[in-house]
Amino acid sequence: MSSLAAVRRLAPEGNQRRVLVATMGGLHQGHLELVRLAREAADGAKVEDRMWKIEDRTSNIQHRRSSAERGNGEVAVSIFVNPLQFEPGADYERYPRPEKADEDLCRAAGVDLLFRPAPDEMYRADCSVTVEEHMLSQTLCGRSRPGHFRGVCTVVAKLFHLLEPDAAVFGEKDFQQLAIIRRMVRDLDFPIEIIAVPTVREPDGVACSSRNQYLSGEERRQAPMLRSALLQAAERVRDGETSAEKLIGEVQQQISTAPAARIDYVEVVETESLQRRDTVGGGSLLAVAVFFGKTRLIDNIVLA
Ligand code: PAJ
Repeated sequence: MSSLAAVRRLAPEGNQRRVLVATMGGLHQGHLELVRLAREAADGAKVEDRMWKIEDRTSNIQHRRSSAERGNGEVAVSIFVNPLQFEPGADYERYPRPEKADEDLCRAAGVDLLFRPAPDEMYRADCSVTVEEHMLSQTLCGRSRPGHFRGVCTVVAKLFHLLEPDAAVFGEKDFQQLAIIRRMVRDLDFPIEIIAVPTVREPDGVACSSRNQYLSGEERRQAPMLRSALLQAAERVRDGETSAEKLIGEVQQQISTAPAARIDYVEVVETESLQRRDTVGGGSLLAVAVFFGKTRLIDNIVLA
């Protein structure tokens, strides 16, 4: 399905609950886990308690939960490599677009609606309105990728309007993106429940990502260093370490032992506000962005 007009005719019928998985394609196990949980949420099966707890923090879902019990919902997947969220000179052109493989994966996963708009359908040549979040976007990836989250918010807001989902599923791998989308939904009153999904990993701990395929063999061999540095930091916190500075130093030092790694940031922030913390305590997130060659990988772990 690529025409917006056709999608408008496909608004969910009656009580059918539509759950959206927004992606840029290059589908992998992480995306498929989102689809699996979208199916559960659409059909009203019990989604793990943990997720409901996260949702409880947003007020906009209370009136929606009962509809989750109805069953027979619809899972919509969007695939759109969003030009607006790539900085100039970034990997927009070479971003993977395996259309046939993605379509097959969606079909096999039981996706009901696959929405693949063309860039000129989504953005008119003279489009001049965007959506911007002004607080959570200032830190972490927002600092190194100016304009990125404006692109994300704008396209997600458009997808929400076009597809009118009752709920949408996002991954915790992109923790900042998830936080910003929750904020957008709250502050702009989208009647949409946001469901968070824990990061899906390769057997060696590397977070699944469409960009992993850019890595050379050697870079891929070194990439698990990110996860082990994060796990070690979490263990140090369990052993009583509370200094963010010390933990950051240790993580930086560990990552630097991988010759292909070049650190963009290592930060400890508060999970809700994403503001820097000096001391690790309830609700702290350790987040990293590291270049392996030209490929920038991100990962994170909740510390306490
Ligand atoms: P994309 O990178 O394709 O990711 C789509 C969704 O899959 C996001 O919610 C992301 O957090 C989730 N995801 C990716 N890798 C994951 C993993 N290893 N484990 C769990 N979830 C994972 O994020 C985007 O696209 C775009 O910014 C988008 C939201 C579609 C807007 O253009």
